[in-house]
Amino acid sequence: METTDLVLTILHHLLAFSLAGVIAAEFVLIRNELTPGTLRRLARVDRHYGMLAVLIILVGIGRVFHGLKGWEFYVYNWVFWVKMAIFATVGLLSIVPTIRFISWNRQATASPAFQPPGHELASVRRYIWLEALLFLAIPAFAAAMARGYGL
Ligand code: HEM
Repeated sequence: METTDLVLTILHHLLAFSLAGVIAAEFVLIRNELTPGTLRRLARVDRHYGMLAVLIILVGIGRVFHGLKGWEFYVYNWVFWVKMAIFATVGLLSIVPTIRFISWNRQATASPAFQPPGHELASVRRYIWLEALLFLAIPAFAAAMARGYGL
């Protein structure tokens, strides 16, 4: 149905932009001075990542099965699966920063002078940089897939 497809498309785009916003916020915050306030903000922003990722998976699956093209268009399309693999990789990469943010926030709450150890900070910055880079590839594969590349 066209209305279902339209609603799912709108939600899909809003969620994709929100997820991009979360990654961008983490990208910027992690380069700031890491005061207890910034560490709290990082942990809070990161909590939205999981929620948005689950919603985009649900809406994405909705688009596969209730979109105008039919599910066969996607499941036999390798570009669709590359997009899924990149999305899953970004999700896996986000686990390390999430664990660090929770731990840093806990330590900063207990002791306000806490500063994340240099090696942990450097590794989290690398993970977020890689997440952001890979995330940029998702709309490119999405656009190619929507136009029949990969069939
Ligand atoms: C499990 C996760 C996801 C699934 C199952 C999924 C599925 C889909 C489907 C079925 C379409 C419709 C393509 C068409 O019009 O034929 C689509 C479009 C699109 N998706 Fe996703 N998607 C997912 C995650 C994401 C993420 C994380 C992004 C982030 C950027 C994204 C960005 C887009 C864009 C930009 C389009 C529009 C492409 C175009 O029409 O040019 N998707 N997606």
